[in-house]
Amino acid sequence: MGGAGEDMSPVNDFPWRDCLTAVGEAVEQGLHVIDRDGVTVVCNRKAAQLDGMEVQEVFGRKLLDVYPSLTADTSRLLTAVRTGKPIASSQQTYVNYKGRTVTVLNSTYPLLYKGEVAGAFELMTDVTPLAQATDRYVSLAQAQVSDQTGAGNPADSFYSFDDIITRSPKVLKAINLARRAASRDCPVFVYGETGTGKELIVQAIHRASGRAGLLVEQNCAALPETLLESTLFGVVLGSFTGARDRPGLLELARNGTLHLDELSSMPSDLQSKLLRVMQDSYVRRVGDTKKRPTTFRVVASCNADPFKAIESGELRRDLFYRLSTVLIDLVPLRERDGDLRLLTGHFLDRINRRSASRALDLSPEVWDLFESYSWPGNVRELEHILEHAAMAATGDVITLDSLPEYLARAHPRSLQEPAGPVAKAQTSLQAALERFERGLIEETLESCGWNTSEAARRLGVPRQTLQYRMARLGIRRATGE
Ligand SMILES: Nc1ncnc2c1ncn2[C@@H]1O[C@H](COP(=O)(O)OP(=O)(O)O)[C@@H](O)[C@H]1O
Ligand SMILES: [Mg+2]
Repeated sequence: MGGAGEDMSPVNDFPWRDCLTAVGEAVEQGLHVIDRDGVTVVCNRKAAQLDGMEVQEVFGRKLLDVYPSLTADTSRLLTAVRTGKPIASSQQTYVNYKGRTVTVLNSTYPLLYKGEVAGAFELMTDVTPLAQATDRYVSLAQAQVSDQTGAGNPADSFYSFDDIITRSPKVLKAINLARRAASRDCPVFVYGETGTGKELIVQAIHRASGRAGLLVEQNCAALPETLLESTLFGVVLGSFTGARDRPGLLELARNGTLHLDELSSMPSDLQSKLLRVMQDSYVRRVGDTKKRPTTFRVVASCNADPFKAIESGELRRDLFYRLSTVLIDLVPLRERDGDLRLLTGHFLDRINRRSASRALDLSPEVWDLFESYSWPGNVRELEHILEHAAMAATGDVITLDSLPEYLARAHPRSLQEPAGPVAKAQTSLQAALERFERGLIEETLESCGWNTSEAARRLGVPRQTLQYRMARLGIRRATGE
């Protein structure tokens, strides 16, 4: 930097130093540049402020004179000058010269000029508010975990396999697999759409495992990367701050079960760190050099098909194979034969039990709608809809009027309206396809006396799919017209 240019191109007349200073003042990050003798040549206000200094106290002075607590070995800038190599970004927490605790993410790079080291620069990102939030979050997560160890038998508060209501052969098979896995040590991977009962299965596995440790749960989609990392791995906040070091959930789950929900939302770096912990049975807290032993069973869950998540690069293949010793696929409610009726009965019973005088039931129309609906929110959605309807219903019968707006709108009767003249005038591909589909379905239904099971078989689709399509297209058997 600052060399008299042998190269006479016009850019050499450019005021580089002023430019650098102006850029330094404009950016949010701290910028600190030293020359090869360790003298500060650029230090913007943010960099000085992070250290609790004024720019003029730093500028033009030797780094080690300004910061007597640093040595040639501990200073990242001087290390970069000495080695000529960049230093990967790392997080540091310290008390600055004004007594303020700051947490900074530093990246340090050597400045090379004509193949020689001319100096080094450091970029500092102030993450103090985030670090404080992490600290608060981790203590909350911990408090929640220690609640479990309170009075009584914590296992009682978890769902057991017997609480999972189903007669679907596919779900029963999944439960059997989970039961067998529970008593072993192997990881389990559960996938299913939202509301299919993943959490139920995880709790049942933990309860049946008889593990002495806790069940610790974390939704990987709920936190930004740095928070998720310190929550899982724990933090060592540096000896100056007086803040307590904290174990992460990986340590708190020791001898217990760690449930990582929405695993595919975990950033890839963290996924590989997690894999390392599982392979070594050691965890290293953020900012720490010490390794601490931990073993736990991981149960991961995912809303998305894990194989698709691998394809799209969201889920690391190596981690998935490590975690999927037992792979449990919870099929959606619309693919569980008989479960809609069984679960509706179960939830209505529960509602009826709450008030002695009530004997709630569904009207036939509501029942029709339920059967043709696709239940994207699965069992959770059914549960909520029934709770809503129970509140909205005036008598003992749940009618279309007692249902939430969005669901009532999915009813065939309301869907028939757009099939009027407006729809006929449409010339879009969508409209043409729907006309074709309607014709084919109606014809097939006619040909087998409106027996939906038979029609579905002839059309080569599951009955639920046919009923769903019929509802979407407003196809009903004409009566007495
Ligand atoms: N098979 C089932 N039997 C009884 N209740 C169920 C069943 N599956 C789900 N539920 C209910 O649905 C809710 C949501 O299930 P949950 O396990 O949280 O779903 P997920 O984690 O897959 O989104 C549960 O709290 C429970 O009340
Ligand atoms: Mg869940």
